[in-house]
Amino acid sequence: EIPTPLVVAVDGPSGSGKSSVSRAVARDLGLAYLDTGAMYRAATWWCLDQGLPLTDTAAVADAVRALPLVMGVDPDDPTVVVGGTDVTAAIRETAISAAVSAVATNLDARAELGRLQRAAIKAEREPGGFSQGRGIVAEGRDITTVVAPDADVRVLLTASEEARLSRRALDVHGTADASAVEATRDQVLRRDADDSTVVQFHTAADGVVTIDSSHLGFDETVEAVLAVVSAATRA
Ligand code: DC
Repeated sequence: EIPTPLVVAVDGPSGSGKSSVSRAVARDLGLAYLDTGAMYRAATWWCLDQGLPLTDTAAVADAVRALPLVMGVDPDDPTVVVGGTDVTAAIRETAISAAVSAVATNLDARAELGRLQRAAIKAEREPGGFSQGRGIVAEGRDITTVVAPDADVRVLLTASEEARLSRRALDVHGTADASAVEATRDQVLRRDADDSTVVQFHTAADGVVTIDSSHLGFDETVEAVLAVVSAATRA
């Protein structure tokens, strides 16, 4: 039995496996799950839906402040709804992946989404939330450092570039052969390079435990995170 409420923060680059691993950890521990990358994607969808040029940083910031976003925090069904439209699938499309860094590098948009993320985390520390006060696993790029530096457990999930590209190729193209890896290379590396200008997610901050999943299978990576949770909560 883990002490509750428990807040677990997981950060890492694209293709580190943090979303699927975080979902499995939340499921195992009976916690809520928050995909903060999906919030940046939903904000991007909302701006594009309104025809906003993403280079207009003030207009994007205003749009994000008015974002009618409902994040599902059930790890078995993490839905994303914007203004009554279910965009769970739409926010995974290439057009969004290619545009999302423009929102992720907008500091006013980050401040607003950070507020929403803190509110979602706080709600899960209280009896009325989805987890009924058990807590939450929140994952992204700046959860361990900016959004929830006071989380009970903080993990940086890394993997070699080779491992990250082949995982992303498998996700997007259903295969990790050489041409599928090449097709993902530009997008994944450029996006991480762009995002790195505003958030630091390649090295662990003080007190954050690094798990390198390059040579771990999915289940082994989940076990490694659960072991960090056990160690941190036994203390
Ligand atoms: O993890 P993902 O690919 O769904 O993230 C989408 C984008 O949002 C990506 O460009 C990184 C950015 N992001 C961020 O800047 N901060 C977060 N906490 C989560 C995601």
